Formats: sequence, structure tokens, C-alpha cells
Amino acid sequence: MSDAYVHRVKPAWKKHALIDAETYEKWYRDSIKNPDRFWGKHGKRIDWFKPYTKVKNTTFSGKVSIKWFEDGVTNASYNCIDRHLKKRGNQTAIIWEGDNPYDDKKITYRELYEHVCRLANALKARGVKKGDRVTIYMPMIPEAAYAMLACARIGAIHSVVFGGFSPDSLAGRIQDCESDFVITADEGVRGGRKIPLKENTDKAIAIAEKAGAKVRHVLVVRRTGGKIDWVEGRDLWYHEETRNQKPDCKPEKMKAEDPLFILYTSGSTGKPKGVLHTTGGYLVFASMTHQYVFDYHDGDIYWCTADVGWVTGHSYIVYGPLANGAITLMFEGVPNYPDAARFWEVVDKHQVNIFYTAPTAIRALMGAGDHFVKKASRKSLRVLGTVGEPINPEAWEWYYRVVGEERCPIVDTWWQTETGGILISPLPGAIDLKAGSATKPFFGIQPQLVDDQGNEITGPGAGNLCLVDSWPGQMRTVYGDHKRFVETYFSTYKGKYFSGDGCRRDEDGYYWITGRVDDVLNVSGHRLGTAEVESALVSHEKVSEAAVVGYPHDIKGQGIYCYVTLMAGEKGSEALKKELIEHVRKEIGPIATPDKIQFAPGLPKTRSGKIMRRILRKIAEDDYQSLGDTSTLADPSVVEDLIGNRQNKK
Ligand code: WT7
Repeated sequence: MSDAYVHRVKPAWKKHALIDAETYEKWYRDSIKNPDRFWGKHGKRIDWFKPYTKVKNTTFSGKVSIKWFEDGVTNASYNCIDRHLKKRGNQTAIIWEGDNPYDDKKITYRELYEHVCRLANALKARGVKKGDRVTIYMPMIPEAAYAMLACARIGAIHSVVFGGFSPDSLAGRIQDCESDFVITADEGVRGGRKIPLKENTDKAIAIAEKAGAKVRHVLVVRRTGGKIDWVEGRDLWYHEETRNQKPDCKPEKMKAEDPLFILYTSGSTGKPKGVLHTTGGYLVFASMTHQYVFDYHDGDIYWCTADVGWVTGHSYIVYGPLANGAITLMFEGVPNYPDAARFWEVVDKHQVNIFYTAPTAIRALMGAGDHFVKKASRKSLRVLGTVGEPINPEAWEWYYRVVGEERCPIVDTWWQTETGGILISPLPGAIDLKAGSATKPFFGIQPQLVDDQGNEITGPGAGNLCLVDSWPGQMRTVYGDHKRFVETYFSTYKGKYFSGDGCRRDEDGYYWITGRVDDVLNVSGHRLGTAEVESALVSHEKVSEAAVVGYPHDIKGQGIYCYVTLMAGEKGSEALKKELIEHVRKEIGPIATPDKIQFAPGLPKTRSGKIMRRILRKIAEDDYQSLGDTSTLADPSVVEDLIGNRQNKK
């Protein structure tokens, strides 16, 4: 290995690890050569009420059909709870750490069982049935996990909506999957501030019902006791509904391909898509990747800092760890509250062994200074992980040297909402690390780089990242719109799943994700479509047109740059910029807060009217030298204006 930033597997990692280099190579070869045999064996890591006889039945061509373990019968909630009770009934399942550092609690597997069963019975008593969609709009409290597992237990499909999304965004998600039951809390608490979840839910339901939706019930967890409005007959208190329910509830028999959950995610066009994951394959893949990528051993304390509103929280706070009988830490707060030492103090307090977070948090904490890290011992840490966006080598090295004291391998895990679990990542103890590289594919994963014409690039090179065959955790469809599923993922390069990411493969066969090549932004590891931000902007009465692009941002990875054309007669001002920023926050949520707004009298368009974002990206990056060919523009002078306008402001 010639590259700088190589960190070879240390003897201590290898000694501890479940998988060494030889095993990785062998299993990987086996998994590709004979997927039926490989997954037929590993599918047994979860319990089945009726064992499968068929393993893989998938095609990426034509109508695209993905089925795994299709004749098997199981239940995700059973696998995450019941099957552990005999051995670990009294072991902690969830460690909850509140926003307030004095607030925490531990929930054993036995207690988890009772909470989940009571809630499952309460949902049934209110008429929730197998196949119904239940929307979960919750803060990071144990009830969020109970809600997911209670749905899974009775075969209801959950759709978790991140608590930071606006009423409008929540309304869209309720409508899209025709969900008539919402679980929320009175208020959430993050960084000492309250988030009006119930109030947002009320607003969302009003919006959704105007559009024809009908929400029968809202189940409300009392988190803060703050004042909320109450709709008699519709709204129900969680503690009242669950109190008198039996602490036992038989898990529904689910076919492997019965839906487990829907999770909305942004694409390059249109409204967010409802990514559908099913039961058997998803759970096999989430639990297996959790065990091997994090080198999880019995009794380890594992902490993923994500929110359950994102797929990372689904697969690596709830389903993967609990299916493995792990101890999973759930954190309500934020990295910098009360101060930037919080993560490391929580690590010491709960003796965390495995820690998984996002590059944006690492960069922000790196900026806050090493003394915050050094306030805590961190001696319990053994493995560090990162996910959500490319990590720059400087941040990687800081994480490795300062946080992990060169003792802990870093697993840089590449995956997506659509993939259900980790696809490219080092395995500690098996794969040498390179700062900034997600390294090698997990078992069964066949990455392929293709050029823009779809020709395969072999050996070292760069291109568009595709997967040429299926894996058990893959999404099965876009909820209610299979055509969109096929068009979005399998039509750009026929017969291949296209991830939307650009990627380089080096001379050692290591993968380096370079970021999205489509119109998807990645802001602090949160995914947003440029089209969504644009449609929020043009919904403002003074805006006639908008074009949104990403630009490099030191902490967030990407910032949001908006070019806005105003209605005739309107004048741009600082006050209007503020108003537009507020407007976008209200329409989508704080994660979509624009960083920069530039008023543009005209946008660069081709003669057929297509906005040339390539040019707008370059201007946003202050890179005026490589604008490329502008001769196809309907009015090339627009570009001069935009540049002049941008430079004047500096
Ligand atoms: C996009 C998926 C998967 C959970 C969190 C995000 C980017 C994700 C990495 C990584 C470079 C990464 C990609 C991907 N991404 N992990 N380790 N290195 N980029 O899930 O919201 O579905 O976003 O996040 O661009 O396509 P998501």
C-alpha cells in the first residue's frame, strides 16, 4: 500500500476481532460465488417461526423484483426481544441518556418486552391492524423504540418522521402513505430547548385533512408536561392507553417479504420517496452488519448518536443491535450541550465501547478544541465509526488520534436509506484503514464503477457507484409507486442499482466515496433534494424562480446556496433574505435552512429552458475559471451578471 494515511490492522484489533483478514477474503468470495448458500446459512442468525426453503429470488432487470427468504415466516419484534429473554431478561437492552446530563435510565430486555407488549395491545385496542401505516413523530426517548417494535409486533408498518421536520413535511408523509394513526410526544427536548411536537402534529393533521386525509388517533407521550391542545376523541395519552393493557402480546406471523417500515428520503426530483423495507432480509442484514462491522461482542456497550428519524437510527440503534441482544444507548441531546465535552462524558459515564457518529459532528467537535475531549478518559472505547457523508482525512485523523488515541480502528461506513444497512466499510481486525476511504465491500456486496455511458470501469479509476446484484437489506420498492422505484434506481444504468454517488477505486481496490453526482444535497449528513428547497422558495409570493445548489462547507460538508429570481417589481433586500430563509425552515424544517441567498435577475438556462446547475455550482464555489461551455445558454450574459453580483457583495 503506497497511499499516505494508511493505518494497518493492529495486533490487538485482530486478536479481539470476530473476522480476520483471511476469513473476510474467504467469506467474501463465498458470498459472491454462491449467494444462496452464503445467505442460506447466515439467514439463520435470526429465529424463524417457519424456516425458509428459498433464499434469493431477485432481478434488477425489467420490472425489478427483490425477494429474500420469501417462504420464511418470522417477526422482527420477536427477534429483537422475546428470543433474548431466557438468557438476557435482566440484561440492559437500552441505556437512555437524556438531554439533561442528570437524566438517564436503563431498560432491561424483560422491561422492553413489557413496554412493547402493552403498547402493541393498546394499538390493537384502537383498531390498528396488520398492514396499517403508523406515523411516529417522536423525540429520542425509549417510547420511540417501543413504538417501532410495537408496530413490528402486530404487523403494522411504521413510518418514522424525524422530529426536526416541519408540519408541512409531516403532513406530506402522513398523506403519502395514508396513515391514520400518529404517535408523538407533547414536546421534545434538545440542547435545553423545547420542540413543539404535538403542536406540529396538530398543524400537520389540519393540512393533511384539508387534502383529504383522515387521522383517527394521535397517541401522545407526556415528555415535558408542557401545555398542548387536545382534540377530544382523537387524542389519547400514551400512559393512559397502555396502563391497563396486558404485558404480553403474541407476535404476528410475518412473511419475510411483509413490509416492516417506510422511511421517507429525498431524491433528485419530486417529493420525498417512501422507501419500503421488508421483514426477513432487512433484519438479517442489519443484525449481521451490526455485529461484524462494529465487532460487537456480548456485553459491549454500543452507542450510535443518530436520531431514530433516520435510517441509521432504525438499523443501528433499534433493529440491528436489539436483534443481536446488544446494549444500545439512545441519546436525546446534541453534541454541544451543555458543552462540547458531552459525547465524551457520556462515553465515560456509561463506559461505551463502540461509538458511531457523523463527520459533521466530528468536524464541529474538532473545531471546539481538544481540551473538551481530554476532559474525559475515553478508556472504554474500542471501535469508532462514522457515517452519512465523506469524511475528510483531517477529521478522520483527529478522530483517530485525539478521540481514539490510536487505539481504536475507525469504521467509515458507506450506505444509504435504500440499502438498509452498511455496504462498504472496514471490518476492524480484518481490513487495513485509509483515512477517508470506506475501504472494502461487505459480504455479498458487488460494487461496480461505471462511466456516464454505463461502461464498467475496471481496476483503479473513478465513476458512478452501482451495485450489480442484490443483498438482503435492500429496499424493495417505493411505497405505492413501483414505477418510480425502477425509474429512479435501475434505469440510469440498465440492470444495475445506481446509488447516486460518485466514487474512486484505488490500486488496492479500496473505495473512496466522493459524494452525490445527482441533485441531492448532503447537509450535515442529512439528505435534501435541491428540488424540494426550490419548491419551498417558489411557494413564497415574491419569488418567481429559484435554483438551489450545494457548495463546500467546513462543518456541514455542504451548504445550501439559493439563487432566487423575484417577481417583477419586487426588490431584493437583507430583510427579504431573512424572510425567505424563515419561509424555507417553515416549509421543510430547520435542516433545510439556506446558508446563502443570491438574488438573480436571470438564471442560466439552455435554449430549451433547462437550468444549468453545473454553472451555478461553480459560481457558488467561487470557481469562475472552469465554468465550461456556456455557449449553449439562451442568454450567456446572465452568467456575467451572476458573477458580478456575487463579487460585488464581498
Ligand atoms: C448518502 C445516503 C446511511 C445512513 C446515513 C445517510 C452519503 C453515507 C457515507 C460515507 C461518504 C456517505 C452518500 C449516500 N454517505 N455514508 N461513509 N462516506 N458518503 O443515509 O440519508 O440515505 O444518505 O449519504 O452520499 O448516498 P441517507
